[in-house]
Amino acid sequence: MNDIIAELEKRRENARLGGGQKRIDAQHQRGKLTARERIELLLDENSFEELDMYVEHRCTDFGMEKNKISGDGVVTGWGTVNGRVIYVFAKDFTVFGGSLSEEHAKKITKIQDMALRNRAPIIGLFDAGGARIQEGVAALGGYGEVFQRNVLSSGVIPQISVIMGPCAGGDVYSPAMTDFIFMVKDTSYMFVTGPDVVKTVTNEEVTAEELGGASVHTVKSSIADKGYENDVEAMLQMRRLMDFLPGNNMSDVPVLPTKDCPDRVETSLDSLVPENPNQPYDMHELITKVVDEGDFFEIQEKFAGNIICGFGRVEGQTVGIVANQPMVLAGVLDSDASRKAGRFVRFCDCFNIPLVTFVDVPGFLPGTAQEYGGLIKHGAKLLFAYAEATVPKITVITRKAYGGAYDVMSSKHIRGDMNYAWPTAEIAVMGAKGAVEIIHRKDLDDPEKIAEHTKNYEDRFCSPFVAAERGYIDEVILPRNTRRRISRALNMLKNKQVENPWKKHDNIPL
Ligand code: HXC
Repeated sequence: MNDIIAELEKRRENARLGGGQKRIDAQHQRGKLTARERIELLLDENSFEELDMYVEHRCTDFGMEKNKISGDGVVTGWGTVNGRVIYVFAKDFTVFGGSLSEEHAKKITKIQDMALRNRAPIIGLFDAGGARIQEGVAALGGYGEVFQRNVLSSGVIPQISVIMGPCAGGDVYSPAMTDFIFMVKDTSYMFVTGPDVVKTVTNEEVTAEELGGASVHTVKSSIADKGYENDVEAMLQMRRLMDFLPGNNMSDVPVLPTKDCPDRVETSLDSLVPENPNQPYDMHELITKVVDEGDFFEIQEKFAGNIICGFGRVEGQTVGIVANQPMVLAGVLDSDASRKAGRFVRFCDCFNIPLVTFVDVPGFLPGTAQEYGGLIKHGAKLLFAYAEATVPKITVITRKAYGGAYDVMSSKHIRGDMNYAWPTAEIAVMGAKGAVEIIHRKDLDDPEKIAEHTKNYEDRFCSPFVAAERGYIDEVILPRNTRRRISRALNMLKNKQVENPWKKHDNIPL
């Protein structure tokens, strides 16, 4: 028996070494951890149960039959994060550059199937060179199997991807179909075709970082939701994220104990909105003063800063927060902001996360660049997402809610459950200046008359009361009581039940 146990230990030891100490050292020298070290950080201590560590590839081309390594370039299994089950796969760059073979793909799809069957989140850690070149179409087929499962799991269990090294070719499309993508700064990059192919095809000279580093994907392309300084930070932040997310689309959001009183009054919010309607203020201040203990997990903070999206908690329960940011482009809605928030709203709706929307929006951004870029279609994405959402929707208008953007931002008309306004709210078709210049065009040469018209318009429309008179605003609230109001509304809406008409799926303007 002792011999058998010793043999098992030897096999395990051998598998855990992956591509060998030399390659592990090279990984460390690049500032990267190994696949197993990453998993250790991600999961609760001693909770990881690895599966399929003895799997080897079956390729017999190019002398590969003499080159086999246990595990075949990916570490898979399950464990817990703060006690909740998650499934994980981590590409092992020390084994054939983490490249995907037929057997490697089978390991991933086995974990995907288990995660879906058992309705628990799945996290993929990427650090790989794409399809295993020696395996040809068998590798391509393997990718297809992974992609299919990504799609079937979408909206059923949360799927998260973390890019922690190279991620090219077939490896990019699986993350692209998951809910969130995170990257590690300077050591990771994502692209469909690398710098060499780019040079050959387009004659462009570009580095890997310039083509697909975190600095590109978190700022320009919006492919990635956030970049972290190093592997350790990335894994610890994934633990934090998992605490916000439900296990699946049928389970409730997790409730974390909090000492933060739901009735907490924030008098400082009474003076958050400046006297001058054109002066910006930081919407983050409102968000962090409303959520439990100021804990806000922001998504895509470096992209389309004119809208803020992220997770917080109220009375321990996760909420998705969407807020116009007057500090960036005056909080206007443009194509990027609409796409960013539309996707976030849909994620929350998939997973029963109530939506809290803070509104200070001067409208949609005018101009040829926006119109030629498809503003109508992109703006419609956010409108569509809010209108189809059946989760509890609470809206607070702090200042401007002008034009179509008023309708879009979770208004009463698209099934906002509780629509509040601060006394500083201005709900109108447009701002006073623009409105007066159109409806009193004939008086434009008379500054006195224009001033009078402007004052009249402001008195009538630049307040929340015209909307409140119609019931479009349920109540005008004191800013200091915003947290209390939201918390009470969330409790009131706990058993909300709304069903959309049966359909195969909708046809959101893509
Ligand atoms: C087999 C691979 C491999 C691959 C890397 N390796 N990529 N083996 N198939 N795709 C192996 C290398 O041979 C090497 O083995 C080890 O992994 C480390 O690779 P290096 O090149 O030494 O490392 P580095 O200099 O860091 O470069 C990493 C890299 C580069 C940028 C990822 O290896 C690379 O460009 N690889 C090829 C990328 C690629 O074109 N993949 C195919 C994409 S097409 P040894 O034994 O020397 O340590 C694709 C189609 C799918 O994926 C489409 C589905 C929709």
